[in-house]
Amino acid sequence: MSGPLAAADTGTLEPPRVVVTRPELPGHGLTRLTDQADVVCWDSKSPPSREALTDLLSGAAGLLCLNTERVDAALLDAAPHLRVVSNLAVGTDNLDIPALTARGIPAGNTPGVLTETTADLAWALILACARRIVESDRYVRAGKWTGVNFDTMLGVDVHGATLGIVGKIGRAVAQRARGFQMRVVHSSRRPESDEFSSWRPLDDLLRDADIVSLHPPLTPDTRGLIGARELALMKPTAILVNTARGPIVDQSALHDALSSGRLFAAGLDVMVVEPVPSTEALFSLPNCIMLPHIGSATLATRARMVDLAVDNILAGLAGVRLPHCVNPDVYAE
Ligand code: GLV
Repeated sequence: MSGPLAAADTGTLEPPRVVVTRPELPGHGLTRLTDQADVVCWDSKSPPSREALTDLLSGAAGLLCLNTERVDAALLDAAPHLRVVSNLAVGTDNLDIPALTARGIPAGNTPGVLTETTADLAWALILACARRIVESDRYVRAGKWTGVNFDTMLGVDVHGATLGIVGKIGRAVAQRARGFQMRVVHSSRRPESDEFSSWRPLDDLLRDADIVSLHPPLTPDTRGLIGARELALMKPTAILVNTARGPIVDQSALHDALSSGRLFAAGLDVMVVEPVPSTEALFSLPNCIMLPHIGSATLATRARMVDLAVDNILAGLAGVRLPHCVNPDVYAE
């Protein structure tokens, strides 16, 4: 995209204001935006409060935000000049899509570019849970490694185990399982097997799998998908990994299953509340690994995400179709 962009409503060549909800973003993508827009960055690494975001948005034509920012009808009503919202994430559960569409505001996301990177992280969690890597590191640092015991930090085997994938995007995790000679099953909305895994109903998968990796988007159907009943179906030697969205798992039921030995371990990159409050009960459990939502956090992938998000913003400001639009109905005649 090139050439100056007109400011909202005025038709003048004043650069339109775009709010970016973090002070710094990886890569050089943002430079393309600052060249063409009056970019106002929120100046803290913590998400802006609702009030702060509302204030920032008055007069803004574009919003480039993270999935920690809830973009709903009330926020949009306070931002009458907004012409485009670009989510720096593939997931869009923080966006009220009907509210955006009703106001004629296109919204974009960053699909595709983070699948492989997130699959790598799912594997990091699988292996760390199975072989108690984080616990072992803490044990060594605490000076507890004082003898060589044959039963120290016993884990479970990953090679030859059965991997259960929930959600279509988990295919990249399934592909990597070949190297571990694993049997792979998956459960997704479409009951279709593929070359990497065979489809199973969710309950069968939970009963059968030694490792369950979650990848569905957060929707009303997947909120609380893994609760006490589902955890009870799993083997006591099984591992649960969640790199999708926190609310897919009932965290208190997970705590009960892990603390009572009904589940071997869990690896969570996402939590119900993010950042996780210091009172979180799971903190006390050595068999639960928690990461700060870093599924896509490599320099290269995050830079690609910024590029896609900037492409979306620039298209929206120029009044052309977003390359990665999540509410295409907005363009319906
Ligand atoms: C990350 O969680 C994303 O949705 O991109």
